[in-house]
Amino acid sequence: MADKEINKTSILFVCLGNICRSPAAQEVMQQIIIFHKRVDDFIIDSCGIGAWHIGNLPDKRMRMLGKKRGYNFTHLARQLTKEDFSKFDFILGMDDEIITILYNKAKTKEEKDKIIPLGQYITKFDKQSEIPDPYYGNEEDFVFALDLLEDACEEFYDKVLK
Ligand code: 4NP
Repeated sequence: MADKEINKTSILFVCLGNICRSPAAQEVMQQIIIFHKRVDDFIIDSCGIGAWHIGNLPDKRMRMLGKKRGYNFTHLARQLTKEDFSKFDFILGMDDEIITILYNKAKTKEEKDKIIPLGQYITKFDKQSEIPDPYYGNEEDFVFALDLLEDACEEFYDKVLK
């Protein structure tokens, strides 16, 4: 995204590596806005806090499990920049650690006000307030992350973007 595009709402999903949770969230949300025929109203992107996987496709396990649900995860990983805080309207973090890092990096109140824990929008999983990192986990952890992302993105769309 070159500059802030007027008349579009821009949403940035942030996780640690930008190869598991946030690129999946990006595509899940993209499919939601396609479903609602509102593609032209939004810019959806994702990034990571760390630089380890810059330029890489999403993790193989996430791509494989996404495919089973009809998604094609193709985002190439990139790292969060300071410009992201001015370019995006909503900055959605995956867990408490990410939210703390984002708050520490945001420079102004306006930037801090854009930061939202995506887990706040989980509706179907009791006592779950974060999207846990599946990277060091097993297939079940990836499936759970996808379940949480689909749930929270739907709810964020319904409650905030609709
Ligand atoms: P993500 O998962 O933040 O959901 O993309 C991770 C991917 C890679 C690493 C950590 C978390 N890593 O340490 O390389």
